[in-house]
Amino acid sequence: MKTLILYFSYSNNTKTLIEEINKEFNFDVARIERKNSYSKDYNTCAYKEAKEEWEKKIYPEIKKLNVDINAYDKILLFFPIWWYTFPMPIGTFIKEHTDYKGKIILFENSYTNDPKYVDNSLKDLKEITQALNVKQGLFNKNAKEHIKFIKEE
Ligand SMILES: Cc1cc2nc3c(=O)[nH]c(=O)nc-3n(C[C@H](O)[C@H](O)[C@H](O)COP(=O)(O)O)c2cc1C
Repeated sequence: MKTLILYFSYSNNTKTLIEEINKEFNFDVARIERKNSYSKDYNTCAYKEAKEEWEKKIYPEIKKLNVDINAYDKILLFFPIWWYTFPMPIGTFIKEHTDYKGKIILFENSYTNDPKYVDNSLKDLKEITQALNVKQGLFNKNAKEHIKFIKEE
């Protein structure tokens, strides 16, 4: 059973979380990145670039991943909530891998602890494709809780 941690992170909260979790597992890790990086200025990123992508359903180009995801049975997909759902680069990744045969588990984090973000993420993902085997993992939990959950998976 081969597992990959795949993540998107803008201000590195998600990156810090997965690094803490992965001290326990040492899984392979890959990062989803927009080809043209978002502005380093938070307001430009949040209220201009990301908002426009979300409102207009623009799937931005992402960089080529440094791994072949088909070599993994399971993907632990970590991302911050952006505008009540997943960041659009996550949507791009999903669109590009609708033939993936393994299991994908979602792990979200956000500033506000609103459970509807989880529902939105799953709903929006299913709108892209029904073909993938996706399930919800954890939302806004700490590294210790993630480690416990992943061990029991
Ligand atoms: C573009 C953008 C949109 C966001 N939208 C939300 C939101 O809708 N709800 C929320 O609670 N937090 C929102 N946040 C806050 C992030 O989800 C939160 O800070 C997260 O921990 C950032 O993770 P990162 O450091 O890995 O990028 C948003 C942040 C950005 C940059």
